[in-house]
Amino acid sequence: MELLKVENCRKSFDGEEILKGISLYVDEGEVVSVIGPSGSGKSTFLRCACMLETMDGGTLSYAGKYAANEIDGKVVYAPAAELKEIRKTFGLVFQNFNLFPHYTVLKNVAEPQMIAGRSKAEAEKKAMECLEKLGLGDKAKNYPCQLSGGQQQRVSIARALALEPKVLFFDEPTSALDPELTGEVLKVIRDLAALHMTMIIVTHEMNFAKDVSDRIIFMENGVIRAQGSPHELFSSDDERLKAFMGRLNGN
Ligand SMILES: Nc1ncnc2c1ncn2[C@@H]1O[C@H](COP(=O)(O)OP(=O)(O)OP(=O)(O)O)[C@@H](O)[C@H]1O
Ligand SMILES: [Mg+2]
Repeated sequence: MELLKVENCRKSFDGEEILKGISLYVDEGEVVSVIGPSGSGKSTFLRCACMLETMDGGTLSYAGKYAANEIDGKVVYAPAAELKEIRKTFGLVFQNFNLFPHYTVLKNVAEPQMIAGRSKAEAEKKAMECLEKLGLGDKAKNYPCQLSGGQQQRVSIARALALEPKVLFFDEPTSALDPELTGEVLKVIRDLAALHMTMIIVTHEMNFAKDVSDRIIFMENGVIRAQGSPHELFSSDDERLKAFMGRLNGN
């Protein structure tokens, strides 16, 4: 069974259709990268899949449970209590880290767990475990501004992992980082892939997408223009895809 199933997702802003029917099925343990030109709808799609945006059309389910269904042409979301459970199954990592500046690193990782119902002691223990796993054990008492961008992004990954999600979404996790800090974050994601974490990653890092993904989705103008294994996509004859990849490779 798919862990994530999105069918025919549609979304408009101000009368303009941004997503024109996107379907994506992700199996447990699969790593899927989403690539495509700026403005093609990648972030909007990710936000719909993790319910930060409501869809105008389509269905969304996690591990066989409907989060949103389309009934008589209208999207109907599951009741709040069910959505709350479903939200526990996935975690999010964004471009800008979204850490609380006035919380220590430890508190940033522990707090969401406490909101999810863990005691302070449990949450802090789990937070330390996750921080140590990501090489940040010695930063627990620091504030985000005392960390490099790469370290801050690793904290935000630790925060997501501490909630033990089944699926992790990344939206350009390295695009706010200097090139030398990008590597340390990509390594963490590679390590998670090796542990068979299910991940959906919007990225402009083509070599990374090629290495880490089981499947790559190429989006353009609100549709999936092509998808396949990294090998299939990188050897594709599709002119648009070739142009896109060529440009990003600096050719
Ligand atoms: N909240 C919003 N209100 C109005 N328009 C929006 C909103 N969010 C996104 N859009 C529009 O939707 C289109 C797709 O945006 P989106 O951010 O999904 O693209 P993207 O593929 O993630 O691009 P990038 O690679 O630059 O991050 C853009 O034209 C954008 O201006
Ligand atoms: Mg985006």
